[in-house]
Amino acid sequence: MAESVRVLVDEAEVAKRIEYLGKKISEDYAGKQVHLICVLKGGVFFMCELAKRISVPVSMDFMSVSSYGDGTASSGVVKIAKDLDETLEGKDVLVVEDIIDSGRTLYYLLDILAKRNPKSMKLCTLLDKPDRRVRDVKVDYVGFEIPDEFVVGYGLDYAQKYRNLPYIGVVEGVE
Ligand code: IMP
Ligand code: MG
Repeated sequence: MAESVRVLVDEAEVAKRIEYLGKKISEDYAGKQVHLICVLKGGVFFMCELAKRISVPVSMDFMSVSSYGDGTASSGVVKIAKDLDETLEGKDVLVVEDIIDSGRTLYYLLDILAKRNPKSMKLCTLLDKPDRRVRDVKVDYVGFEIPDEFVVGYGLDYAQKYRNLPYIGVVEGVE
């Protein structure tokens, strides 16, 4: 079977959900500035769309942490490839992720970030695959809970492909 992508969550549905999350975050952070941290590369599309829907003041920073190689299976090895540019001291931090799968990446990352003295720290993910959880991670905002399938699009890749799809889909026809 040739490699193809089946739509799981279409573009309009994703947009609607991000609009809702933006509103909710704006209410929850009323009177504050929210410091968004994007986990590269997958979180970038989601964070940009989300940031546009947040009405309180926003600042942004980026970091890259990976526990994955080019395939679909977790290696369990997590490394910081790029650290943040700015301090978290006294900031209301919202970590923005594309997907939480085993939870290993976030478990490690949140532990590191918490030591940098943010005023508060919450977690927002576009997708959550709770069935696959190995590490317990508290998620504050979730776009969609999805079944245990390998998804692409909206920032998520399969071997660096498909990040640019404007919807979330499942790759079919791969081993
Ligand atoms: P975790 O450490 O197992 O939670 O994995 C988190 C990272 O693995 C995510 O930030 C993604 O980069 C990648 N990942 C996990 N599941 C998928 C998927 O279904 N499609 C694409 N990437 C995924
Ligand atoms: Mg990621």
